[in-house]
Amino acid sequence: MTVMVPATTETIADGGAILRRGGLVAFPTETVYGLGADACSDAAVARIYAAKARPRFNPLIAHVVSLEDAERQGTFSAEAARLARAFWPGPLTLVVPVAAGCSVSVLARAGLDSVALRVPAHPVAQALIAAVGRPVAAPSANRSGRISPTAAGHVRDELGDAVDLILDGGPCTVGLESTIVDCLGALRILRPGGVPREAIEAVLGRSIAAGPEPSARPVAPGQLASHYAPRAAVRLDATSAQAGEAVLDFAGRVGQGAAAAYLDLSPTGDPIEAAANLFAFLRDLDGPAVTRIAVAPIPERGLGTAINDRLRRAAALRD
Ligand code: TXA
Ligand code: MG
Repeated sequence: MTVMVPATTETIADGGAILRRGGLVAFPTETVYGLGADACSDAAVARIYAAKARPRFNPLIAHVVSLEDAERQGTFSAEAARLARAFWPGPLTLVVPVAAGCSVSVLARAGLDSVALRVPAHPVAQALIAAVGRPVAAPSANRSGRISPTAAGHVRDELGDAVDLILDGGPCTVGLESTIVDCLGALRILRPGGVPREAIEAVLGRSIAAGPEPSARPVAPGQLASHYAPRAAVRLDATSAQAGEAVLDFAGRVGQGAAAAYLDLSPTGDPIEAAANLFAFLRDLDGPAVTRIAVAPIPERGLGTAINDRLRRAAALRD
């Protein structure tokens, strides 16, 4: 029986104990809710893949509380360390070579000799990881290929009894997963996310490559062409609503018209507000009566790049 409780000092301590025993705890981060397990235990990590019905070859992010802890797990180049100092705690994940003393399980790393590390900013996430005293592996707490959860209720709907405890810390403020930067060679962005590319380039003082295009054979599940998918079909760059469609608008561009359902990601055209609303609104519009969601064009600036990346995956053909 899944227990969903408000995150308090006591329930966070309970969560820490569950994780140390090899259980699964869903918890809020500033990006999306994570499905946490002890990152050092193959058995605990295996339960994540089972709960998510996720293909096993996809590696997970190990969450830690500080750059110091991250440096015990991975080797940071000067540029990787500079990004960590600029954006941690926050919505940035760095993929680095494993350090000699890396305790993150091979299963969590999917057998790779690299490790993805992140220091989340959310106080509940910080307190939970501190309570465990070890890195916490946590993918987004949704079933594989589905929309990432930005509220505790989404996690319960997605994973139900597969998780031992859900810590409710309210809605996620960023609402998009972390930006993933591959620091194994020349830096490149593997997944656009909560830290805009422009901000990363400003810190580095140079431009960097956006990783590979979405493909059917990804390094990362976030790169699967059809990912973050609602049940309804998705039509991008809509300029008006067709009969039977739900509308996901931006800055009132499309308007309600004959739409079966209507939500505006940001009536004022603010990409940060739009990112925070994205997954919850896709979920809300994805009702049984809706066969297609028409999405307004979103400008490719700031978090708009990450929003469009997620929307293209939601719109990709799938089996
Ligand atoms: O915001 C986030 O990043 C959320 C919260 C919970 O922290 N987590 C998240 O995890 O989105 P997940 O598992 O849904 O996505 C992790 C991504 C995957 O695309 C995975 O393949 C990639 O990180 N990844 C992990 N380790 C990697 C590695 N060694 N090399 C390349 N990609 C890696
Ligand atoms: Mg995910």
